[in-house]
Parts: sequence; C-alpha cells; structure tokens
Amino acid sequence: MKRKILIGSNNLGKVEEYRALLGSSFEPVPLKYFNLELDVEESGKSYSENAIIKLNALKDKCPFELITDDSGLEVLSLNNEPGLFSARYSGKNASDKRNIIKLLKNLEGIQNRSAKFVCSIAYFNPNSEDGIISSFGECSGKILKTTLGKKGFGYDPIFYVEELGKTFAELSGDQKNMISHRYYAVRDLLRRINI
Ligand code: IMP
Repeated sequence: MKRKILIGSNNLGKVEEYRALLGSSFEPVPLKYFNLELDVEESGKSYSENAIIKLNALKDKCPFELITDDSGLEVLSLNNEPGLFSARYSGKNASDKRNIIKLLKNLEGIQNRSAKFVCSIAYFNPNSEDGIISSFGECSGKILKTTLGKKGFGYDPIFYVEELGKTFAELSGDQKNMISHRYYAVRDLLRRINI
C-alpha cells in the first residue's frame, strides 16, 4: 500500500512534482486534504531553517508523513543573490518576469554567470522517533543573457544547463525532474529514510 505523505505547499503544482519525484511508494496529498493553508513568515537564515519553519506550522495537524521545502537560485558573482529572496527579489510586487529582469540587469557586464538552484526538504513522520529530517540538493548551471523556452516557472527561462544544452524552460517536466535541485533533495531524503 502507498504511504500517504502531505506536501506542505500552497502551490498545487508541487504536489504533482513530488508525485513524480517520490516514486511509487508514496501517495502525495495536498494541504486541502486537511483544509489547511500554509501561512508563515519565511524568516529563517537558510533554506533548511525556512523548510523547518513551514514544517513546524503543519506537523501537529497531520497524522502521517509530511514534507515541506524551500528553494532558491544562487548566482556566484552576485554573492549568491537572489538566494533566500528568490521569490521576492524584485520587491513587493515581485513576479517571475520582474525577478528575471532585475537579475539580468544586475549581471550586465559580468563575465562569470555561474549559478545554482538549491533546495532543502524538511520531513517528519509522527509515527517514528526520528524527529525532523532535512535533506539538500542542488543543480549547477549558467545564467543566459536573454530568456529561452516557455515551460516551467521562476528563473527557468534564464537557467542554462550545459550538459543538456538547454534551459530549464526548454525541458519537459520529466526531464527537469531527472536533474533538478528538488530531484537531488528528494534522492537525499529517500536515502536518509532508508527507501
Ligand atoms: P519555493 O521554495 O518553491 O517557494 O521557491 C522560491 C523561489 O525560488 C521561486 O519563487 C522561484 O523564484 C525560485 N525557484 C525555486 N525553484 C525553482 C525552479 O525549479 N525553477 C525556477 N525558479 C525556481
């Protein structure tokens, strides 16, 4: 029988993404399964702290396993900006488009465009003594000077993966799920919980 696991995100797309990433042992369920919404301030100093803040807001409300995550884009020449602020990089009215415009402007004239996506997952099983388990994954690439591709979200159209010769926005969901920071974080998690 599949193990139900709550995906602690308001983003329904993530439930489907985790369905593909977690594999056949799990049955991911969305927050609306418990009529819940996630409403926390992401005030942590790291991705794992933020993922744990989200997890702590939910873990007493779920009788089975659950995960939350936090992720971002780090650009080497910009001191790892936008980092923890990836979603809100362009300010109050941030959008994917505005965030990309700001990032490309800040990189104008800069040669080194190396970057990585990073993701931390926090996991809790109320029926185990193990407590909260954190896992981590990353995916390296380069920031292009213009957007390429229409799929995905966030910074996908400017994140170029050299091994594939494509941006994340040119990959299908399945292709992205084989190399993404979330894929590596899930792989790390499954190893930690012996799956
Ligand atoms: P969250 O951790 O899912 O809330 O993601 C934080 C922000 O990081 C997103 O709003 C995006 O701007 C960026 N981000 C995280 N993962 C990805 C990705 O796979 N592609 C593009 N942008 C991402």
